[in-house]
Amino acid sequence: MDTLVIVTGGSSGLGRALLDTAPTDSTRVDISRSGHPDGDVTHLRADLADPAAWSDVGARIADLVASRAWERVTFIHSAGTLDPIGFVGETDADAVTANVLLNSASGQVLGHRYLAAVRELDVRRELVMISSGAAGKAVPGWSTYSAAKAAFDAWVAGVGAEQQQRGGVRILAVAPGVVATPMQETIRDTDEHDFPGVQRFRNLHDDGQLIDPVVAATDLWTLLDDDTVSTGSRVDLRER
Ligand SMILES: NC(=O)c1ccc[n+]([C@@H]2O[C@H](COP(=O)([O-])OP(=O)(O)OC[C@H]3O[C@@H](n4cnc5c(N)ncnc54)[C@H](OP(=O)(O)O)[C@@H]3O)[C@@H](O)[C@H]2O)c1
Repeated sequence: MDTLVIVTGGSSGLGRALLDTAPTDSTRVDISRSGHPDGDVTHLRADLADPAAWSDVGARIADLVASRAWERVTFIHSAGTLDPIGFVGETDADAVTANVLLNSASGQVLGHRYLAAVRELDVRRELVMISSGAAGKAVPGWSTYSAAKAAFDAWVAGVGAEQQQRGGVRILAVAPGVVATPMQETIRDTDEHDFPGVQRFRNLHDDGQLIDPVVAATDLWTLLDDDTVSTGSRVDLRER
C-alpha cells in the first residue's frame, strides 16, 4: 500500500519508534528540531513551540499529501515536553509559554491542517494525538502538561464526532503508558520539590516496568488496524 506517515516528534522516543515500525515501504516524515537518524526519513525541521512555524509546516503537510496518489495517509502528533516540571507560578514563564504552545496548540493547529489537506481524499486516513495517563488528572508539577493532554482528549472527541458526520477520517487519542524514553529520564532526574510524585517513576524504572518504545509503537499500529475502535475514542494502550 502506498502509505504516507507523518510524525511530529519523530526524532526521539515514541515518535522515533513509530517511524521505525511504520508499515513496510511507507514514505516517512519527521517534524522536529533535530531529526530522525535514519536518512530514509524526510526531516521537516521545525520548532513547534513557535507559532510562526506552523503555517509553513501546514503548507508542507499539504504539499506532501498532494504529491502522490497515496492509498493511506497517517498523521501522528507525538511531539511533547514536560518542561518546565514544577509548580505553576514558580517556573520559568517562557518555558510555560513554550509548553502550552507545543503540547496543546501546535497539535490542534497541525491536526486542522492535516484534516484540510486530506479532506477530498477517498483513501484510508488516520489522525492520532498522543495523550497521557496524566490527562486531566491532578499531578502536582505537571499541571500544564496534563491540561494539554486533557485538551487533546476533548479535541479528539469533538473532531471525531464531526468526522463521523462528514469527513470520514479516523481520529484517536492514545495514551501509551510509561515508556522508556528520554522524557522518562528527565522525570527521574527531577527533584521531589518540583515533582513530588517522582519516586513512583524511579521505582517503575528500577522494577523494569517501563514499556519499550518499539512495543508501544507496534501496539499503536495494531490499534489502527482494529476497526472496532471507533473514531473519537481515547485509548490507553495498557488497557488493551
Ligand atoms: N514516555 C512516556 O512515558 C510517555 C507517557 C505518556 C505520554 N507520552 C507522550 O509521548 C510523546 C512522545 O514523548 P517521548 O516520551 O517519546 O519523549 P521524548 O523522547 O522526549 O521525545 C519528544 C519529542 O518531541 C519533540 N519536540 C520536543 N519539543 C519540540 C519542539 N519545540 N518542536 C518540535 N518538536 C519538539 C522532540 O524532538 P526535537 O527535540 O528533535 O525537537 C522529540 O522528538 C509526548 O507527546 C509525550 O507527552 C510519553
